[in-house]
Amino acid sequence: MAFILETVVTTRNADGSHHLAPYGLIQDGEGYVIAPFHPSPAIENLRRRPFAAAAAPVDLRVIAGAVTGRRDWPTVACETIDLVRLADAFGHMELAVESVTEDALRPRFRCKVVHSASHLPFVGYNRAQAAIIEGAILSTRLDLLPREKIEAEMAYLRIAISKTAGPVEQEAWGWIEEKIRDGLGS
Ligand SMILES: Cc1cc2nc3c(=O)[nH]c(=O)nc-3n(C[C@H](O)[C@H](O)[C@H](O)COP(=O)(O)O)c2cc1C
Repeated sequence: MAFILETVVTTRNADGSHHLAPYGLIQDGEGYVIAPFHPSPAIENLRRRPFAAAAAPVDLRVIAGAVTGRRDWPTVACETIDLVRLADAFGHMELAVESVTEDALRPRFRCKVVHSASHLPFVGYNRAQAAIIEGAILSTRLDLLPREKIEAEMAYLRIAISKTAGPVEQEAWGWIEEKIRDGLGS
């Protein structure tokens, strides 16, 4: 198994705007692999312009929002590549694609880290934030996973939310719950 970092990735769209979505960056030696499932604008973007920025969000509403139709989060310019990255980030990496492994389902873009920076001190872990990441991932797999598994995992994750969420995490969790409720028709 590889170590995977859950990040908010930005790439440049053909019209100059940016695409923002959470992706798990798979560690590969000194670099990382971005592996979006087809179809995704990120795939076309990385083919056309082989650069990405991957940020660690401070506010987990960015991750919950990006998978529930709320993708308009503030960005700032990257430092070494012509791209933007999520503004509200503990840190970020600027990535250049070195090679592509083609796959009909999930091409793999192997990236070199051309720059990385910390922006805020990281002062501790929070269970509700971890639960939001898990819940957000579940919400993107409603067609792939059995309903019972989704319901059981959400029930478990809800414990961490009820014990450790602040208002921001409660809002993020609410978006995920709503999407899953609608998706499962429950
Ligand atoms: C924490 C997290 C990690 C994710 N990692 C991936 C990934 O590695 N590959 C992928 O295709 N989707 C991943 N997803 C799901 C995508 O973010 C989601 O499907 C998103 O809507 C894709 O947007 P797009 O179709 O505009 O690319 C992840 C979601 C979350 C919440």
